[in-house]
Amino acid sequence: MPISFNNERNMFVLQTDNTEYAFQILYGKFPVNLYYGARENAEYKDYEERIVSFAPFHKEHHLSYLPDTAMLEYSGYDSGDYRTSSLKLRNVNGDCATFLYYKGYRIFDGREELPGLPSADADADTKTLEITMEDDLTGAEVKLYYTVFPREDVISRYVKITNNGENKLVIEKCMSLTLDLPRCDLDMISLYGRHYGERNYQRVPLHHGLQSIFSRRGASSHQYNPFFALCDHDAREEEGRAYGFNFVFSGSFADEVEVCQVGRTRIQVGLGEENFQWHLGVGESFVSPEAVMTYSDSGIGKMSRNFHDFVRRRILPPEPFEKRPVVLNTWEACYFKIDEAEMLRFAETAAKYGCDMLVMDDGWFGERHSDWTSLGDWYENKQKFPKGLKSFIDSVKERGIKFGIWVEPEMINAASELYNAHPDWCIHCKDRVRMESRQQLVLDMGNPEVVEYLKDIFSKTFEGCSIDYFKWDMNRNISQAGSAALPPERQGEVYYRYMLGTYELFRWFREKFPNAMIENCAGGGGRYDLGMMKYSTMIWTSDNTLPWDRVRIQYSSMLAYPAATMSCHVANHGGSCEDPRQLRYGWHVAMGGALGYEIHLPNLSDTVKETVKNQIETYRQYEPLILRGDYYSILNPFETNYSAYYYTDGRDFLLSFLQFDEDTENEIILPVSTADANATYLDTVSGKLYSGAELLAGVSAFSDTSRFTSQIWHFVRQ
Ligand code: DGJ
Repeated sequence: MPISFNNERNMFVLQTDNTEYAFQILYGKFPVNLYYGARENAEYKDYEERIVSFAPFHKEHHLSYLPDTAMLEYSGYDSGDYRTSSLKLRNVNGDCATFLYYKGYRIFDGREELPGLPSADADADTKTLEITMEDDLTGAEVKLYYTVFPREDVISRYVKITNNGENKLVIEKCMSLTLDLPRCDLDMISLYGRHYGERNYQRVPLHHGLQSIFSRRGASSHQYNPFFALCDHDAREEEGRAYGFNFVFSGSFADEVEVCQVGRTRIQVGLGEENFQWHLGVGESFVSPEAVMTYSDSGIGKMSRNFHDFVRRRILPPEPFEKRPVVLNTWEACYFKIDEAEMLRFAETAAKYGCDMLVMDDGWFGERHSDWTSLGDWYENKQKFPKGLKSFIDSVKERGIKFGIWVEPEMINAASELYNAHPDWCIHCKDRVRMESRQQLVLDMGNPEVVEYLKDIFSKTFEGCSIDYFKWDMNRNISQAGSAALPPERQGEVYYRYMLGTYELFRWFREKFPNAMIENCAGGGGRYDLGMMKYSTMIWTSDNTLPWDRVRIQYSSMLAYPAATMSCHVANHGGSCEDPRQLRYGWHVAMGGALGYEIHLPNLSDTVKETVKNQIETYRQYEPLILRGDYYSILNPFETNYSAYYYTDGRDFLLSFLQFDEDTENEIILPVSTADANATYLDTVSGKLYSGAELLAGVSAFSDTSRFTSQIWHFVRQ
């Protein structure tokens, strides 16, 4: 039973294949955590409080329950707990004290929908526990949801708040997941960065106080990814204990980790309080986004693989095509200089040399000759496409290739027809400067009129067009977060409403173009999150296509997300494609995920074109391992000059070694730790045979003085 209730101990136990989570209802009122860890030999005593002074208490429980140190499943603000709280409700009296008492539970198969929000898909094994709590004074009912995904060792959490009282409430903070651990001897791994340098690996020991990663940008952001992990100080890839956390949401968020006075650690994932507020009228409900957690007692690698399985099975949309298309994208080759004749040259060459799809990037609409204009004017430029979009796309198709197109629906340029017609449709604060970024403003996606306009114009422009793929971009963060469509007291809701409107448009695209695939992009990986993954098959990993930088970006992305989500292109930096070694290196790196190209293929030499064709053909042999296999990292490029990893389906292996900085000549041993000692393997790259014992002991790779040294091995079991 994945979820059970132990009457004698007043305790709930949640089990996945390898993990167990338990909490008890103390005094029939307070849900307190007992255990989160390995399922095997799991043992835990009844709850014991840690006594401290200066802690408020309920008289009837005196020192046996202290909210300030208790291991709470969910913590009300100003209820005697001075740690960071889960929920802050402002009531009609003006105070925010939020007291939550347990009222009952329900266990059911599957899960409920989260209205308007992306969430993980259930299957026959999925079970949900609903815990009802209530604040007696205000009538706020808080339901905690725990959904158990046994096979993936994942438990998800979200909350539903209903105003059953007689007065309106304002939600000022609402976290989706609170977990108190009894220890603090842990490292925190998180991914920080910037545009062009996303998801750097950072690992630091926890310290007393609050450590937090967050976004206040209205997007999950390049600066901090919502994923983080806590692990033993000595945990490595395949050893030690690791807890992983993530958020199924694409807007502002807060991940909080607070080590308190008695060495317990509070972990929280949710919307935070700085960019969030919600007015809850009498009888209304609010459902938070979903947060997820996993645990591994066999290293960080297993934690990552749990999340990889979870994302592939429960988050990503179904693949629309039999094979993931290898795309030729026009951005770095053409920027805004595109027209029908040039695009047809691309289509013809792409088809001839093995690409599956032409993706026409920015520059096809309005007066879009640079990034100063036309976002919002979503109709084709008649000089560039004189016979119209449909006729052009039909011509692409005649060349035997699929077609994808770039859009950036959530944005508007001041220099656009749309802005002239509706200057108040962008997010802005009344009477304040409208700050621009990349010469653009953000549309007020929380305003239903804006979303309807977008549906309408895209319907008209793409009517009858055979589009297989959208690259959905988003190139700035929100600032001056006001909406002309909301009254003054609701301006705090703008960030959250923006995401709800954006998700609504994503769902509309998926319904309107059911056979098309969406590649997500936010100036590269500025929304590399589980919310976007729910609607997009893959994400443009970074605008940085320098392969040696990608080595690091891809390594960190793989801590939380499977290779199938990474859109990876071979690019042509300063003519690098004409150097066979660099072209091969770029290809080896891009085969960390879904391979594509972003080069001016028609203008490149025949040798390059033939090489690209061979690369794509070879990639097709490896693709099932990359997109669906299990991933094992061997070398961390944030700790060494190399990245090394393999993908496996349990039988065959694709092993990659990538040096990404200048180095000396060294021999580096790469153990394939899950090879079968009794099997023989053929490396299809070199034609050499290896015993399983040799793979287990490790194959030799050789570093070099050049930064683009790389090697791959494809071991096929004989
Ligand atoms: C930013 C994206 O990340 C690029 O790949 C490209 O699509 C440009 N936007 C187009 O403006």
